[in-house]
Amino acid sequence: MSLIADEVAKRRTFAIISHPDAGKTTITEKVLLFGNAILQAGTIKGKKSGQHAKSDWMDMEKERGISITTSVMQFPYANKLINLLDTPGHEDFSEDTYRTLTAVDSCVMVIDAAKGVEERTIKLMDVARMRETPIITFMNKLDRDTRDPIDLMDEVENVLKISCAPITWPVGMGKEFKGIYHLLRDEVILYQAGMGHTIQHSRIIKGLDNPELDGALGEYADELREQMQLVLAAANTFDLEEFLAGQLTPVYFGTALGNFGVDHMLDGLVEWAPLPQARNAGDLMVAPDEPELSGFVFKIQANMDPNHRDRVAFMRIVSGKYEKGMKMKHVRTGKAVRISDALTFLAGDRATVEEAFPGDIIGLHNHGTIQIGDTFTQGRDLKFSGIPNFAPELFRRIRLKDPLKMKQLQKGLMQLSEEGAVQVFRPMKNNDLIVGAVGMLQFEVVAHRLKSEYKVEAVYEAITVATARWTSGIDDRILQQFITKAHENLALDGSNNLTYIAPTMVNLQMAQERHPDIVFRKTREH
Ligand code: G4P
Repeated sequence: MSLIADEVAKRRTFAIISHPDAGKTTITEKVLLFGNAILQAGTIKGKKSGQHAKSDWMDMEKERGISITTSVMQFPYANKLINLLDTPGHEDFSEDTYRTLTAVDSCVMVIDAAKGVEERTIKLMDVARMRETPIITFMNKLDRDTRDPIDLMDEVENVLKISCAPITWPVGMGKEFKGIYHLLRDEVILYQAGMGHTIQHSRIIKGLDNPELDGALGEYADELREQMQLVLAAANTFDLEEFLAGQLTPVYFGTALGNFGVDHMLDGLVEWAPLPQARNAGDLMVAPDEPELSGFVFKIQANMDPNHRDRVAFMRIVSGKYEKGMKMKHVRTGKAVRISDALTFLAGDRATVEEAFPGDIIGLHNHGTIQIGDTFTQGRDLKFSGIPNFAPELFRRIRLKDPLKMKQLQKGLMQLSEEGAVQVFRPMKNNDLIVGAVGMLQFEVVAHRLKSEYKVEAVYEAITVATARWTSGIDDRILQQFITKAHENLALDGSNNLTYIAPTMVNLQMAQERHPDIVFRKTREH
Protein backbone atom coordinates (compact mmCIF):
# COMPACT_ATOMS: atom_id res chain seq x y z
CA MET A 1 0.00 0.00 0.00
CA SER A 2 1.20 3.51 -0.72
CA LEU A 3 1.86 5.84 2.17
CA ILE A 4 -1.24 7.83 1.35
CA ALA A 5 -3.51 4.78 1.12
CA ASP A 6 -2.06 3.64 4.41
CA GLU A 7 -2.87 6.92 6.09
CA VAL A 8 -6.32 7.02 4.52
CA ALA A 9 -7.07 3.58 5.96
CA LYS A 10 -6.35 4.92 9.44
CA ARG A 11 -8.77 7.79 9.29
CA ARG A 12 -12.43 8.24 10.15
CA THR A 13 -14.07 11.63 9.80
CA PHE A 14 -17.49 12.10 11.31
CA ALA A 15 -19.94 14.52 12.90
CA ILE A 16 -22.55 14.13 15.60
CA ILE A 17 -26.09 15.11 14.71
CA SER A 18 -28.85 15.49 17.27
CA HIS A 19 -31.68 17.59 18.57
CA PRO A 20 -30.49 20.17 21.14
CA ASP A 21 -30.13 18.66 24.62
CA ALA A 22 -29.97 15.07 23.42
CA GLY A 23 -26.39 14.95 24.66
CA LYS A 24 -24.09 15.85 21.78
CA THR A 25 -21.73 17.91 23.93
CA THR A 26 -21.59 15.26 26.63
CA ILE A 27 -20.82 12.55 24.10
CA THR A 28 -18.16 14.70 22.47
CA GLU A 29 -16.56 15.05 25.85
CA LYS A 30 -16.62 11.31 26.51
CA VAL A 31 -15.30 10.56 23.04
CA LEU A 32 -12.37 12.88 23.71
CA LEU A 33 -11.80 11.14 27.00
CA PHE A 34 -11.46 7.83 25.17
CA GLY A 35 -9.19 9.52 22.65
CA ASN A 36 -6.94 10.56 25.53
CA ALA A 37 -7.53 14.07 24.38
CA ILE A 38 -8.69 15.24 27.79
CA LEU A 39 -7.74 13.84 31.14
CA GLN A 40 -11.02 14.18 32.90
CA ALA A 41 -14.53 14.75 31.71
CA GLY A 42 -16.00 18.06 32.73
CA THR A 43 -13.52 20.25 30.92
CA ILE A 44 -15.50 20.85 27.77
CA LYS A 45 -18.47 22.78 29.01
CA GLY A 46 -19.87 23.87 32.28
CA LYS A 47 -23.05 25.73 31.60
CA LYS A 48 -23.92 25.94 35.24
CA SER A 49 -20.50 26.05 36.83
CA GLY A 50 -19.49 29.00 34.69
CA GLN A 51 -16.43 27.22 33.38
CA HIS A 52 -16.30 27.67 29.68
CA ALA A 53 -15.24 25.14 27.19
CA LYS A 54 -12.45 25.35 24.77
CA SER A 55 -14.92 24.91 21.97
CA ASP A 56 -16.91 27.94 23.10
CA TRP A 57 -15.12 30.60 21.18
CA MET A 58 -17.59 33.36 21.35
CA ASP A 59 -19.03 35.19 24.31
CA MET A 60 -22.48 34.68 22.93
CA GLU A 61 -22.07 30.98 22.96
CA LYS A 62 -21.08 31.08 26.58
CA GLU A 63 -23.98 33.31 27.49
CA ARG A 64 -26.45 31.12 25.75
CA GLY A 65 -24.79 27.79 26.23
CA ILE A 66 -25.27 26.92 22.60
CA SER A 67 -22.63 25.95 20.18
CA ILE A 68 -22.61 28.42 17.34
CA THR A 69 -19.25 27.66 15.86
CA THR A 70 -18.06 24.54 14.17
CA SER A 71 -14.98 23.12 15.70
CA VAL A 72 -12.76 20.28 14.64
CA MET A 73 -11.18 17.76 16.97
CA GLN A 74 -8.63 15.13 16.02
CA PHE A 75 -7.69 12.26 18.32
CA PRO A 76 -6.40 8.70 18.18
CA TYR A 77 -8.65 5.77 19.04
CA ALA A 78 -7.97 2.04 18.61
CA ASN A 79 -5.03 2.57 16.23
CA LYS A 80 -7.07 4.91 14.12
CA LEU A 81 -7.09 8.67 13.80
CA ILE A 82 -10.51 10.18 14.31
CA ASN A 83 -11.60 13.58 13.07
CA LEU A 84 -14.73 14.79 14.80
CA LEU A 85 -16.41 17.83 13.33
CA ASP A 86 -18.75 19.68 15.62
CA THR A 87 -21.92 21.11 14.17
CA PRO A 88 -23.89 24.02 15.57
CA GLY A 89 -26.81 22.71 17.59
CA HIS A 90 -29.11 25.64 17.00
CA GLU A 91 -31.30 25.39 13.94
CA ASP A 92 -30.61 28.98 12.96
CA PHE A 93 -27.19 27.79 11.87
CA SER A 94 -28.43 24.99 9.68
CA GLU A 95 -26.51 26.24 6.64
CA ASP A 96 -23.30 25.86 8.55
CA THR A 97 -24.29 22.38 9.59
CA TYR A 98 -25.16 21.45 6.05
CA ARG A 99 -21.75 22.49 4.81
CA THR A 100 -19.99 20.72 7.65
CA LEU A 101 -21.78 17.52 6.73
CA THR A 102 -20.28 17.76 3.23
CA ALA A 103 -16.89 17.36 4.89
CA VAL A 104 -17.59 14.13 6.81
CA ASP A 105 -17.85 10.49 5.74
CA SER A 106 -20.26 9.34 8.44
CA CYS A 107 -22.49 10.66 11.22
CA VAL A 108 -23.36 9.60 14.73
CA MET A 109 -27.01 10.36 15.47
CA VAL A 110 -27.73 10.88 19.15
CA ILE A 111 -31.28 10.38 20.36
CA ASP A 112 -32.60 11.14 23.82
CA ALA A 113 -34.15 7.77 24.64
CA ALA A 114 -36.82 9.40 26.79
CA LYS A 115 -37.93 11.64 23.96
CA GLY A 116 -37.30 9.63 20.82
CA VAL A 117 -36.95 11.18 17.38
CA GLU A 118 -37.20 14.97 17.64
CA GLU A 119 -37.80 17.60 15.03
CA ARG A 120 -34.22 18.72 14.47
CA THR A 121 -33.03 15.15 14.13
CA ILE A 122 -35.47 14.69 11.27
CA LYS A 123 -34.09 17.72 9.46
CA LEU A 124 -30.48 16.71 10.01
CA MET A 125 -31.18 13.22 8.75
CA ASP A 126 -32.64 14.72 5.59
CA VAL A 127 -29.39 16.57 5.11
CA ALA A 128 -27.24 13.54 5.83
CA ARG A 129 -29.32 11.56 3.39
CA MET A 130 -28.61 13.92 0.52
CA ARG A 131 -25.16 12.40 0.34
CA GLU A 132 -26.20 8.96 1.60
CA THR A 133 -23.97 9.41 4.61
CA PRO A 134 -23.79 6.27 6.78
CA ILE A 135 -25.39 6.81 10.20
CA ILE A 136 -24.57 5.23 13.55
CA THR A 137 -27.25 5.66 16.23
CA PHE A 138 -26.68 6.21 19.93
CA MET A 139 -29.73 6.04 22.21
CA ASN A 140 -28.72 8.22 25.14
CA LYS A 141 -29.79 8.80 28.73
CA LEU A 142 -30.56 5.20 29.68
CA ASP A 143 -29.82 6.20 33.27
CA ARG A 144 -33.21 7.90 33.14
CA ASP A 145 -36.63 6.44 32.57
CA THR A 146 -36.77 6.07 28.85
CA ARG A 147 -39.11 4.71 26.27
CA ASP A 148 -39.15 1.05 25.38
CA PRO A 149 -36.17 0.20 23.14
CA ILE A 150 -38.34 -1.57 20.57
CA ASP A 151 -40.59 1.47 20.43
CA LEU A 152 -37.60 3.74 19.89
CA MET A 153 -36.28 1.66 17.04
CA ASP A 154 -39.72 1.49 15.44
CA GLU A 155 -39.90 5.24 15.58
CA VAL A 156 -36.49 5.64 13.96
CA GLU A 157 -37.51 3.24 11.20
CA ASN A 158 -40.89 4.87 10.58
CA VAL A 159 -40.00 8.52 10.94
CA LEU A 160 -36.44 8.56 9.65
CA LYS A 161 -36.93 5.82 7.08
CA ILE A 162 -33.80 3.92 7.94
CA SER A 163 -33.62 0.29 9.12
CA CYS A 164 -32.25 -0.30 12.61
CA ALA A 165 -29.89 -3.11 13.55
CA PRO A 166 -29.35 -3.20 17.32
CA ILE A 167 -25.73 -3.89 18.23
CA THR A 168 -26.28 -3.45 21.94
CA TRP A 169 -29.44 -3.85 24.00
CA PRO A 170 -30.18 -2.20 27.33
CA VAL A 171 -30.84 -4.14 30.52
CA GLY A 172 -33.22 -2.06 32.63
CA MET A 173 -33.38 1.71 32.61
CA GLY A 174 -33.30 4.68 34.95
CA LYS A 175 -32.32 3.74 38.49
CA GLU A 176 -32.54 0.11 37.42
CA PHE A 177 -30.18 0.50 34.46
CA LYS A 178 -27.92 -2.54 34.76
CA GLY A 179 -25.90 -2.47 31.60
CA ILE A 180 -26.12 -3.67 28.03
CA TYR A 181 -26.00 -6.90 26.11
CA HIS A 182 -23.67 -6.78 23.11
CA LEU A 183 -25.38 -8.82 20.39
CA LEU A 184 -22.29 -9.39 18.28
CA ARG A 185 -19.90 -10.15 21.11
CA ASP A 186 -22.47 -12.13 23.10
CA GLU A 187 -21.46 -10.31 26.25
CA VAL A 188 -23.28 -8.55 29.03
CA ILE A 189 -21.41 -5.45 30.12
CA LEU A 190 -22.41 -4.19 33.54
CA TYR A 191 -23.00 -0.54 34.29
CA GLN A 192 -21.62 1.18 37.32
CA ALA A 193 -23.31 4.45 38.20
CA GLY A 194 -21.36 7.53 39.20
CA MET A 195 -18.29 6.84 37.07
CA GLY A 196 -19.13 9.20 34.21
CA HIS A 197 -16.03 11.34 34.63
CA THR A 198 -13.67 8.54 33.80
CA ILE A 199 -13.09 5.44 31.68
CA GLN A 200 -14.69 2.49 33.43
CA HIS A 201 -13.41 -1.02 33.52
CA SER A 202 -16.77 -2.68 33.48
CA ARG A 203 -17.40 -6.24 34.48
CA ILE A 204 -18.12 -8.38 31.45
CA ILE A 205 -20.12 -11.60 31.53
CA LYS A 206 -19.64 -13.78 28.53
CA GLY A 207 -22.72 -15.53 27.11
CA LEU A 208 -26.43 -15.14 27.84
CA ASP A 209 -26.61 -18.63 29.35
CA ASN A 210 -23.82 -17.94 31.78
CA PRO A 211 -25.13 -18.61 35.35
CA GLU A 212 -23.02 -15.66 36.54
CA LEU A 213 -25.60 -13.51 34.89
CA ASP A 214 -28.29 -14.52 37.40
CA GLY A 215 -26.07 -13.49 40.25
CA ALA A 216 -25.25 -10.16 38.66
CA LEU A 217 -28.66 -9.22 37.27
CA GLY A 218 -31.13 -11.05 39.51
CA GLU A 219 -34.60 -11.16 37.96
CA TYR A 220 -33.35 -9.11 35.01
CA ALA A 221 -31.27 -12.06 33.77
CA ASP A 222 -34.25 -14.13 32.65
CA GLU A 223 -36.05 -11.08 31.38
CA LEU A 224 -33.03 -10.28 29.22
CA ARG A 225 -32.82 -13.85 27.92
CA GLU A 226 -36.47 -13.77 26.91
CA GLN A 227 -36.24 -10.37 25.36
CA MET A 228 -33.14 -11.31 23.37
CA GLN A 229 -34.91 -14.31 21.90
CA LEU A 230 -37.50 -11.94 20.53
CA VAL A 231 -35.02 -9.31 19.43
CA LEU A 232 -32.68 -11.75 17.73
CA ALA A 233 -35.60 -13.24 15.82
CA ALA A 234 -37.30 -10.00 14.84
CA ALA A 235 -34.65 -7.29 14.51
CA ASN A 236 -32.50 -6.63 11.45
CA THR A 237 -29.00 -7.98 11.56
CA PHE A 238 -26.20 -5.62 10.75
CA ASP A 239 -25.28 -5.48 7.08
CA LEU A 240 -22.20 -3.50 6.11
CA GLU A 241 -23.32 -2.77 2.58
CA GLU A 242 -26.69 -1.42 3.68
CA PHE A 243 -24.98 0.66 6.34
CA LEU A 244 -22.53 2.13 3.84
CA ALA A 245 -25.43 2.96 1.52
CA GLY A 246 -27.14 4.88 4.33
CA GLN A 247 -30.06 2.44 4.46
CA LEU A 248 -29.38 0.79 7.80
CA THR A 249 -28.08 2.12 11.06
CA PRO A 250 -26.38 0.14 13.82
CA VAL A 251 -28.00 1.10 17.14
CA TYR A 252 -26.22 1.43 20.49
CA PHE A 253 -27.68 2.17 23.91
CA GLY A 254 -26.03 3.89 26.83
CA THR A 255 -25.59 7.01 28.86
CA ALA A 256 -23.19 9.72 27.88
CA LEU A 257 -23.40 11.29 31.31
CA GLY A 258 -22.53 7.96 32.93
CA ASN A 259 -19.93 7.36 30.18
CA PHE A 260 -21.39 4.00 29.39
CA GLY A 261 -21.82 2.62 25.90
CA VAL A 262 -19.99 5.46 24.17
CA ASP A 263 -16.94 3.23 23.66
CA HIS A 264 -19.05 0.48 22.06
CA MET A 265 -20.34 3.02 19.60
CA LEU A 266 -16.78 4.22 18.90
CA ASP A 267 -15.69 0.61 18.32
CA GLY A 268 -18.44 0.28 15.73
CA LEU A 269 -17.43 3.53 14.11
CA VAL A 270 -13.80 2.50 13.82
CA GLU A 271 -14.71 -0.89 12.44
CA TRP A 272 -17.45 0.00 9.96
CA ALA A 273 -17.56 3.71 9.19
CA PRO A 274 -16.17 4.49 5.78
CA LEU A 275 -12.61 5.64 5.26
CA PRO A 276 -12.19 9.09 3.74
CA GLN A 277 -14.20 8.94 0.54
CA ALA A 278 -13.75 10.32 -2.95
CA ARG A 279 -15.43 13.63 -3.72
CA ASN A 280 -17.07 15.04 -6.84
CA ALA A 281 -15.43 17.84 -8.72
CA GLY A 282 -18.05 18.40 -11.41
CA ASP A 283 -18.10 15.19 -13.45
CA LEU A 284 -14.80 14.04 -12.02
CA MET A 285 -14.37 11.87 -8.94
CA VAL A 286 -11.24 12.62 -6.97
CA ALA A 287 -10.05 9.56 -5.05
CA PRO A 288 -8.30 9.95 -1.70
CA ASP A 289 -5.21 7.98 -2.69
CA GLU A 290 -4.40 10.16 -5.68
CA PRO A 291 -0.87 11.44 -5.10
CA GLU A 292 -1.57 15.14 -5.56
CA LEU A 293 -3.11 17.20 -2.82
CA SER A 294 -6.63 18.54 -3.22
CA GLY A 295 -9.21 19.83 -0.77
CA PHE A 296 -12.15 22.16 -0.31
CA VAL A 297 -13.04 24.85 2.18
CA PHE A 298 -16.36 24.20 3.94
CA LYS A 299 -16.17 26.71 6.73
CA ILE A 300 -14.55 30.00 7.58
CA GLN A 301 -14.30 31.02 11.17
CA ALA A 302 -13.28 34.45 12.29
CA ASN A 303 -11.53 35.28 15.51
CA MET A 304 -11.40 31.76 16.83
CA ASP A 305 -8.89 32.87 19.32
CA PRO A 306 -9.32 36.40 20.65
CA ASN A 307 -5.55 36.54 21.17
CA HIS A 308 -4.94 35.92 17.49
CA ARG A 309 -7.72 37.93 15.87
CA ASP A 310 -7.45 35.84 12.78
CA ARG A 311 -9.70 34.11 10.35
CA VAL A 312 -9.28 30.47 9.64
CA ALA A 313 -10.56 28.60 6.60
CA PHE A 314 -11.27 24.95 7.35
CA MET A 315 -10.20 22.73 4.49
CA ARG A 316 -11.09 19.07 4.18
CA ILE A 317 -8.29 17.22 2.43
CA VAL A 318 -9.73 15.04 -0.32
CA SER A 319 -6.59 13.57 -1.88
CA GLY A 320 -2.82 13.51 -1.58
CA LYS A 321 -0.76 14.84 1.25
CA TYR A 322 -0.31 18.23 2.81
CA GLU A 323 3.24 19.05 3.84
CA LYS A 324 4.27 22.11 5.73
CA GLY A 325 5.66 24.76 3.42
CA MET A 326 4.17 23.32 0.25
CA LYS A 327 2.83 25.35 -2.62
CA MET A 328 -0.88 25.08 -3.35
CA LYS A 329 -2.98 26.47 -6.11
CA HIS A 330 -5.98 28.47 -4.98
CA VAL A 331 -8.09 27.43 -7.94
CA ARG A 332 -10.68 30.24 -7.92
CA THR A 333 -8.05 32.98 -8.01
CA GLY A 334 -5.52 30.96 -10.00
CA LYS A 335 -2.81 32.03 -7.57
CA ALA A 336 -0.12 29.83 -6.11
CA VAL A 337 0.31 30.20 -2.36
CA ARG A 338 2.93 28.76 -0.08
CA ILE A 339 1.36 27.37 3.08
CA SER A 340 3.70 27.02 6.00
CA ASP A 341 1.39 27.59 8.90
CA ALA A 342 -1.69 25.43 8.42
CA LEU A 343 -3.30 24.37 11.69
CA THR A 344 -4.53 21.06 13.00
CA PHE A 345 -6.98 20.69 15.81
CA LEU A 346 -5.63 17.92 17.91
CA ALA A 347 -8.12 17.64 20.76
CA GLY A 348 -9.42 21.06 19.93
CA ASP A 349 -6.06 22.72 20.49
CA ARG A 350 -4.56 24.44 17.53
CA ALA A 351 -1.05 23.54 16.47
CA THR A 352 0.95 23.98 13.31
CA VAL A 353 0.69 20.88 11.23
CA GLU A 354 3.67 19.17 9.58
CA GLU A 355 1.64 16.86 7.38
CA ALA A 356 -1.98 15.91 6.85
CA PHE A 357 -3.87 13.35 4.80
CA PRO A 358 -7.30 12.78 3.23
CA GLY A 359 -10.07 12.98 5.80
CA ASP A 360 -8.10 15.49 7.87
CA ILE A 361 -9.19 19.05 8.30
CA ILE A 362 -6.51 21.71 8.20
CA GLY A 363 -6.95 25.36 9.07
CA LEU A 364 -5.60 27.89 6.58
CA HIS A 365 -4.98 31.43 7.73
CA ASN A 366 -7.24 33.59 5.69
CA HIS A 367 -6.67 37.24 4.99
CA GLY A 368 -9.87 37.72 3.09
CA THR A 369 -8.95 35.86 -0.10
CA ILE A 370 -10.44 32.47 0.72
CA GLN A 371 -14.17 31.85 0.39
CA ILE A 372 -16.38 28.96 1.40
CA GLY A 373 -16.39 26.37 -1.36
CA ASP A 374 -12.89 27.21 -2.64
CA THR A 375 -10.74 24.37 -3.90
CA PHE A 376 -6.99 24.05 -3.36
CA THR A 377 -4.80 21.71 -5.43
CA GLN A 378 -1.20 21.13 -6.36
CA GLY A 379 -1.82 22.65 -9.77
CA ARG A 380 -4.87 20.94 -11.23
CA ASP A 381 -7.91 22.97 -12.19
CA LEU A 382 -10.47 21.20 -10.07
CA LYS A 383 -13.56 22.57 -8.44
CA PHE A 384 -15.25 20.46 -5.78
CA SER A 385 -19.00 20.70 -6.02
CA GLY A 386 -21.89 20.46 -3.60
CA ILE A 387 -21.11 23.18 -1.04
CA PRO A 388 -24.08 25.51 -1.38
CA ASN A 389 -25.55 28.70 0.01
CA PHE A 390 -29.29 28.65 0.63
CA ALA A 391 -31.62 31.50 -0.25
CA PRO A 392 -32.25 33.35 3.00
CA GLU A 393 -35.75 33.48 4.39
CA LEU A 394 -35.39 36.44 6.72
CA PHE A 395 -34.31 39.92 5.73
CA ARG A 396 -33.42 43.15 7.50
CA ARG A 397 -32.06 46.47 6.39
CA ILE A 398 -28.97 47.29 8.40
CA ARG A 399 -28.21 50.87 9.45
CA LEU A 400 -25.30 52.43 11.27
CA LYS A 401 -25.64 54.34 14.49
CA ASP A 402 -22.60 56.39 13.46
CA PRO A 403 -22.83 57.12 9.69
CA LEU A 404 -19.09 57.78 9.45
CA LYS A 405 -18.32 54.11 9.94
CA MET A 406 -19.72 52.98 6.59
CA LYS A 407 -16.40 51.51 5.45
CA GLN A 408 -16.03 49.34 8.55
CA LEU A 409 -19.62 48.20 8.26
CA GLN A 410 -19.16 47.18 4.64
CA LYS A 411 -15.91 45.43 5.40
CA GLY A 412 -17.42 43.60 8.35
CA LEU A 413 -20.48 42.50 6.43
CA MET A 414 -18.43 41.33 3.45
CA GLN A 415 -16.18 39.28 5.69
CA LEU A 416 -19.06 37.82 7.63
CA SER A 417 -20.83 36.92 4.41
CA GLU A 418 -17.70 35.22 3.04
CA GLU A 419 -17.71 33.19 6.19
CA GLY A 420 -21.31 32.23 5.59
CA ALA A 421 -22.40 33.82 8.90
CA VAL A 422 -24.96 35.88 7.02
CA GLN A 423 -25.71 36.97 3.47
CA VAL A 424 -25.48 40.56 2.27
CA PHE A 425 -27.29 42.14 -0.64
CA ARG A 426 -26.70 45.56 -2.13
CA PRO A 427 -29.72 46.69 -4.15
CA MET A 428 -28.90 48.27 -7.51
CA LYS A 429 -31.41 51.07 -6.99
CA ASN A 430 -30.05 52.57 -3.77
CA ASN A 431 -27.30 52.38 -1.16
CA ASP A 432 -29.14 50.13 1.28
CA LEU A 433 -27.46 47.14 2.78
CA ILE A 434 -29.80 44.20 3.19
CA VAL A 435 -28.86 41.33 5.42
CA GLY A 436 -30.41 37.95 4.76
CA ALA A 437 -30.40 35.01 7.14
CA VAL A 438 -31.80 31.54 7.42
CA GLY A 439 -32.43 31.86 11.19
CA MET A 440 -33.12 34.84 13.49
CA LEU A 441 -30.17 34.18 15.73
CA GLN A 442 -27.84 34.90 12.82
CA PHE A 443 -28.89 38.58 12.93
CA GLU A 444 -28.01 38.80 16.59
CA VAL A 445 -24.68 37.13 16.11
CA VAL A 446 -23.82 39.45 13.24
CA ALA A 447 -24.72 42.60 15.22
CA HIS A 448 -22.71 41.29 18.14
CA ARG A 449 -19.72 40.48 15.99
CA LEU A 450 -19.85 43.77 14.10
CA LYS A 451 -19.62 45.49 17.44
CA SER A 452 -16.92 43.37 19.01
CA GLU A 453 -14.78 42.64 15.97
CA TYR A 454 -15.31 45.65 13.71
CA LYS A 455 -16.26 48.30 16.28
CA VAL A 456 -19.42 49.32 14.50
CA GLU A 457 -22.80 49.61 16.09
CA ALA A 458 -25.53 48.72 13.68
CA VAL A 459 -29.27 48.44 14.00
CA TYR A 460 -31.72 46.45 11.98
CA GLU A 461 -34.88 47.74 10.39
CA ALA A 462 -37.78 45.80 9.01
CA ILE A 463 -37.96 45.54 5.24
CA THR A 464 -40.55 43.97 2.99
CA VAL A 465 -38.62 41.21 1.36
CA ALA A 466 -40.06 37.73 1.16
CA THR A 467 -37.27 35.87 -0.53
CA ALA A 468 -34.23 36.09 -2.79
CA ARG A 469 -33.15 34.11 -5.83
CA TRP A 470 -29.80 33.97 -7.55
CA THR A 471 -30.34 34.72 -11.22
CA SER A 472 -28.50 34.04 -14.43
CA GLY A 473 -29.34 34.25 -18.12
CA ILE A 474 -28.57 31.95 -20.98
CA ASP A 475 -26.83 34.76 -22.83
CA ASP A 476 -25.61 38.28 -22.19
CA ARG A 477 -28.24 40.03 -24.23
CA ILE A 478 -31.09 38.37 -22.39
CA LEU A 479 -29.42 39.07 -19.07
CA GLN A 480 -28.95 42.76 -19.94
CA GLN A 481 -32.62 43.06 -20.88
CA PHE A 482 -33.57 41.44 -17.61
CA ILE A 483 -31.29 43.78 -15.65
CA THR A 484 -32.92 46.81 -17.27
CA LYS A 485 -36.45 45.56 -16.74
CA ALA A 486 -36.08 44.17 -13.25
CA HIS A 487 -33.63 46.82 -12.03
CA GLU A 488 -35.88 47.80 -9.10
CA ASN A 489 -35.63 44.32 -7.63
CA LEU A 490 -32.06 43.39 -8.38
CA ALA A 491 -29.12 43.37 -6.03
CA LEU A 492 -25.58 42.04 -5.81
CA ASP A 493 -24.70 39.60 -3.08
CA GLY A 494 -21.46 39.51 -1.10
CA SER A 495 -19.63 37.81 -3.99
CA ASN A 496 -21.17 40.11 -6.63
CA ASN A 497 -23.69 37.58 -7.88
CA LEU A 498 -26.87 38.96 -9.38
CA THR A 499 -29.82 38.36 -7.07
CA TYR A 500 -33.52 38.98 -7.45
CA ILE A 501 -35.02 40.39 -4.25
CA ALA A 502 -38.74 39.66 -4.15
CA PRO A 503 -41.03 41.69 -1.89
CA THR A 504 -43.65 38.92 -2.04
CA MET A 505 -43.82 35.36 -3.28
CA VAL A 506 -46.42 36.46 -5.84
CA ASN A 507 -43.99 39.04 -7.16
CA LEU A 508 -41.35 36.32 -7.56
CA GLN A 509 -43.78 34.10 -9.40
CA MET A 510 -44.69 36.92 -11.76
CA ALA A 511 -41.04 37.75 -12.40
CA GLN A 512 -40.37 34.12 -13.26
CA GLU A 513 -43.29 34.06 -15.68
CA ARG A 514 -42.24 37.34 -17.25
CA HIS A 515 -38.62 36.21 -17.72
CA PRO A 516 -38.77 32.57 -18.78
CA ASP A 517 -35.20 32.65 -20.10
CA ILE A 518 -33.78 33.66 -16.75
CA VAL A 519 -32.86 31.02 -14.22
CA PHE A 520 -33.93 31.73 -10.60
CA ARG A 521 -32.00 29.62 -8.11
CA LYS A 522 -32.80 28.84 -4.49
CA THR A 523 -29.28 27.66 -3.77
CA ARG A 524 -25.99 28.93 -5.02
CA GLU A 525 -22.87 26.84 -5.28
CA HIS A 526 -19.83 28.59 -4.06
P1 G4P B 1 -26.47 18.93 23.51
O1 G4P B 1 -25.03 19.24 23.32
O2 G4P B 1 -27.00 17.89 22.60
O3 G4P B 1 -27.36 20.12 23.57
O4 G4P B 1 -26.66 18.23 24.95
P2 G4P B 1 -25.72 18.24 26.23
O5 G4P B 1 -24.61 17.28 26.06
O6 G4P B 1 -25.40 19.63 26.60
O7 G4P B 1 -26.73 17.59 27.25
C1 G4P B 1 -27.96 18.20 27.59
C2 G4P B 1 -28.31 17.88 29.02
O8 G4P B 1 -28.51 16.47 29.12
C3 G4P B 1 -27.23 18.22 30.01
O9 G4P B 1 -27.82 18.54 31.23
C4 G4P B 1 -26.48 16.92 30.17
O10 G4P B 1 -25.80 16.82 31.37
C5 G4P B 1 -27.63 15.94 30.09
N1 G4P B 1 -27.22 14.60 29.66
C6 G4P B 1 -26.42 14.25 28.63
N2 G4P B 1 -26.27 12.92 28.57
C7 G4P B 1 -26.99 12.40 29.59
C8 G4P B 1 -27.22 11.08 30.07
O11 G4P B 1 -26.74 10.08 29.53
N3 G4P B 1 -28.03 10.98 31.16
C9 G4P B 1 -28.60 12.04 31.79
N4 G4P B 1 -29.35 11.82 32.82
N5 G4P B 1 -28.38 13.30 31.37
C10 G4P B 1 -27.59 13.48 30.29
P3 G4P B 1 -28.11 20.03 31.69
O12 G4P B 1 -28.63 19.93 33.07
O13 G4P B 1 -28.95 20.72 30.68
O14 G4P B 1 -26.75 20.77 31.63
P4 G4P B 1 -25.39 20.56 32.42
O15 G4P B 1 -25.36 21.64 33.37
O16 G4P B 1 -25.43 19.20 33.03
O17 G4P B 1 -24.34 20.70 31.37
